Amino acid sequence: MVQDSVILITGGAGFIGSHVVRKFVQSGNYQVINLDKLTYAGNLENLRDIENHANYKFIKGDICDFDFIRKLFNNYDFSGVIHLAAESHVDRSISNPMEFIQTNVVGTVSLLNAAKESWSGKNGRRFYHVSTDEVYGSLGDEGFFTETTSYDPKSPYSASKASSDHFVRAYGNTYGLPFVISNCSNNYGPNHFPEKLIPLMIHNIQNGKPLPVYGKGENIRDWLYVEDHARAIELIFEKGRNGDTYNIGGFNEWKNIDLVNLLCDIMDRKLGNTQGISRELITFVKDRAGHDLRYAIDATKLKGELGWEPSLQFKEGLEKTVDWYFENEQWLKDVTSGDYLRYYDEHYSNR
Ligand code: NAD
Ligand code: TYD
Repeated sequence: MVQDSVILITGGAGFIGSHVVRKFVQSGNYQVINLDKLTYAGNLENLRDIENHANYKFIKGDICDFDFIRKLFNNYDFSGVIHLAAESHVDRSISNPMEFIQTNVVGTVSLLNAAKESWSGKNGRRFYHVSTDEVYGSLGDEGFFTETTSYDPKSPYSASKASSDHFVRAYGNTYGLPFVISNCSNNYGPNHFPEKLIPLMIHNIQNGKPLPVYGKGENIRDWLYVEDHARAIELIFEKGRNGDTYNIGGFNEWKNIDLVNLLCDIMDRKLGNTQGISRELITFVKDRAGHDLRYAIDATKLKGELGWEPSLQFKEGLEKTVDWYFENEQWLKDVTSGDYLRYYDEHYSNR
């Protein structure tokens, strides 16, 4: 890639996107255009530290608005797209699947179409689609998802992401669009919206509220620190093979209940509480409909081909995350005011 190559990052004001934007801006190798609709999950506070960098520009817009996206591709000669914009929360996809189909499927195809039109006859372009391990469905007690595991999505969220992955590959196969896809496990870290497990628990422990654990808390997720994901994305964007898929994971499986207990203990220590006090807030609530039992990624391909490995141990990453939320109380207050409270009450009141 040349020094002044212009790239489009979608969803850059969200959780993972903000870390990806920062990484690409700070590398100094790109002009970065961050396109984001600023839904409830997008927050420009996440990028305050880099907003005045000369190689960064924010544009507010909707990936589903094809006329707008087409104009954007006419205005900028993008050498690459890193596509993260999405509706990302499984629980919301269960209560409102249409929004997920619109953004995750229609929005992705709108970007693919614009890239196809604008890149026709040009070399050295790349469409990087950021996806999830949830497209592979749910594992039993054994085994791992690899890049060749069959798709078997089970929630409206994962079905919409699977569909978008298929469209990306279809554009590669049919129109020769140069692409790469990665499927990553659960992320955690700074800027994570407090509707997902870890930041929700941090927020509730801080506020002495019940800690709602779905079912018996026996579901398993593979957790990866968000900056490790951003580092993998940079590596795959720059060095990944065209038309290929890379799984990204933390080699770090945790049962939900064990994770929540660990978080309680870390926070009790940091807050100077009597050990065990936060664990008393744990409340087992009605299970999520169709709750996937276990996700676990085999990321050996990425390690073998591009030398990537997670850099942080989970406990170290959790400590850093908790510290970030303590240091950014205003951020948490801002994102949990207004609509958040309505969502929270509606979502948890009938559990
Ligand atoms: P997020 O919900 O925190 O952020 C999504 C961002 O997309 C927000 O800034 C939002 O404003 C923006 N957006 C939503 N609809 C848009 C639209 N129509 N047009 C433009 N912008 C729009 O999500 P996240 O957790 O940062 O996830 C980012 C991507 O990574 C998603 O594609 C998700 O599927 C994928 N992913 C997430 C995880 C995870 O653990 N969070 C794991 C693997 C993959
Ligand atoms: P989440 O962070 O929503 O990510 P995903 O569903 O995409 O894996 O949930 C992680 C796990 O935590 C999942 O098994 C559901 C569970 N969970 C709870 O037990 N309580 C909660 O309040 C939330 C949000 C999730």
